[in-house]
Amino acid sequence: MKKIMKPEFWKESVIYEVYPRSFKDSNNDGIGDIPGILSKLDYLQDLGIDIIWLPPVYPSPNADYGYDITDHYGINPEYGTMDDWKQLLHELHERNMRMIMDLVINHTSDEHPWFKESRSSRDNKYRDYYFWRDPAPDGGPPNNWTSFLGDSMWHLDEQTGQYYLHSYGIKQPDLNWDNPNVRKDMHRAMRFWLDMGMDGYRIDAVNSISKDTSFPPATDTEKMQANSSEFYKNGPHIHEYLHEMYTEVFSHYNIFTTGEASDVTLEEVKEYTHPAREELNMVLMIEASKICDDPKDMWKSKSWDLHELKEIVAKWQKDLYGEGWMGTYLSNHDHPRLVAYLGDEGRYRVESAKMLGIFQLTLRGTPYIYQGDEIGMTNASHLHTIDDVTEQQARVYYDLMTTKYGEDPEQVMKRIRPKARDNARTPMQWDDSQYADFSAQKPWMQVNPNKEYINVQRQEDDPDSILTMYRKLIHIRRKSSALLYGKYDCIMSEHDQIFAYTREWHDEHWLIILNFSRSEAELQLPQELIDRLESSELILCTHGDHSRDVARAAISQQPAQLKPYESLVFRGFSILDQ
Ligand code: BGC
Repeated sequence: MKKIMKPEFWKESVIYEVYPRSFKDSNNDGIGDIPGILSKLDYLQDLGIDIIWLPPVYPSPNADYGYDITDHYGINPEYGTMDDWKQLLHELHERNMRMIMDLVINHTSDEHPWFKESRSSRDNKYRDYYFWRDPAPDGGPPNNWTSFLGDSMWHLDEQTGQYYLHSYGIKQPDLNWDNPNVRKDMHRAMRFWLDMGMDGYRIDAVNSISKDTSFPPATDTEKMQANSSEFYKNGPHIHEYLHEMYTEVFSHYNIFTTGEASDVTLEEVKEYTHPAREELNMVLMIEASKICDDPKDMWKSKSWDLHELKEIVAKWQKDLYGEGWMGTYLSNHDHPRLVAYLGDEGRYRVESAKMLGIFQLTLRGTPYIYQGDEIGMTNASHLHTIDDVTEQQARVYYDLMTTKYGEDPEQVMKRIRPKARDNARTPMQWDDSQYADFSAQKPWMQVNPNKEYINVQRQEDDPDSILTMYRKLIHIRRKSSALLYGKYDCIMSEHDQIFAYTREWHDEHWLIILNFSRSEAELQLPQELIDRLESSELILCTHGDHSRDVARAAISQQPAQLKPYESLVFRGFSILDQ
């Protein structure tokens, strides 16, 4: 396919995910809300954010905190009113900022009127909006597929004696996109928000909407969650439905779309995002965020090494170059905290949070920053028993393991504690007051007691804080064509601790050196790089004078020791060999 390097606003933007329930509570009911977000726009603007991504604020019974929608046209009163939403969009636009929302198209809530109709009788006109199948001859589910939560993907509905399909929770029945009426109804819902001026969508689970409806048995039976993804990810009509979405809806607006698509090959990413195909603008790089998950059971941790991460990054940075676009994404509301799984949330929390910020913001691709990562927020500390966990995925897993598989509850909790989605959903830490200035009342989820020293107020005016580092990085990135569009090359790729790479675009050149480890690392740059570094400038570093000494040593061909997570960013080294 032809290479495309066309500049676009969405390639040059930095996106920030506001998790509405936990960002800022304006009416002191303990739940974050839209007026709360409005009150923090100065903060987001000062940080340098261009676009906010707002996860679902539509009416929902909250089985999956908004990803189970009952009305695609409304606002959940917990979060405010439609007028609040309009004001948010208006004030963002006044500041030259934008907003995208989640488009949840793979499923609805089981309390959505379509599903209520659908389940009411076998011949209801909405029956075919969802997938209904007869029980297997033994009365069990129609096949052995497991949901993303690990239980059967089929749930028996007593009323009509058939099973319905749910690739997520029981309360999230999958929509049947093969039905043209489903597609038309969903297109209408998409237009509703775009007509009001919204700037695009992050499309949830986008590559799951076309399934192999012969529902063949899953073969990877050892896999706990989503054992049949080969039959419903990137399915038979996926490109047709996305292209239709584009022509019917997206192409009529000046917007952009991001696909949340797991289990994709790079070839598929190119197909989804090459402009000539008219489907999506970008796909999120999810792969890196799963690096510590056992592929058979995501709750079990697997060890990872830097070479693995380098390979993932190289694939997305190099192989996609000029043929597609991605969102660089390392954490969101579904994962442990960034600093907890890729850095060190203990002794080297500050250092590793800075390094991870540098990492994400110096790669090609539109960065998605998750709220709180810019101040180095950590995993939750209150998840003692399963009753402390609010999210369904961990709870279903706990039930399965302790009942069906008879595992020891404490052993299961040991897996859940570091990985539960709740870790990312503790209230945003604005200051060190009782509820961290998230709310004046007890919040829906416990505030992390480390708000005493991890909070925005404390970092705001500190020139050496993580927050200041993020601000600088975003500012630098915005002005640099090389960081936005430039070619990526990994150097010293064999090094076990150091992740170093160059970014180059015409005569603009950058060198990024990250010690991705808890130990000191010896830095000895290759000779050809040293020659090129002579005219360079150290733009950013994590360890002040020490980093400047390391930089001097490196340029004068002396070996130097990087401290744990120490990172350096150079600009302007010359090209001798091109
Ligand atoms: C969202 C999750 C949600 C799932 C099902 C994901 O991509 O980020 O929070 O549970 O989709 O809608």
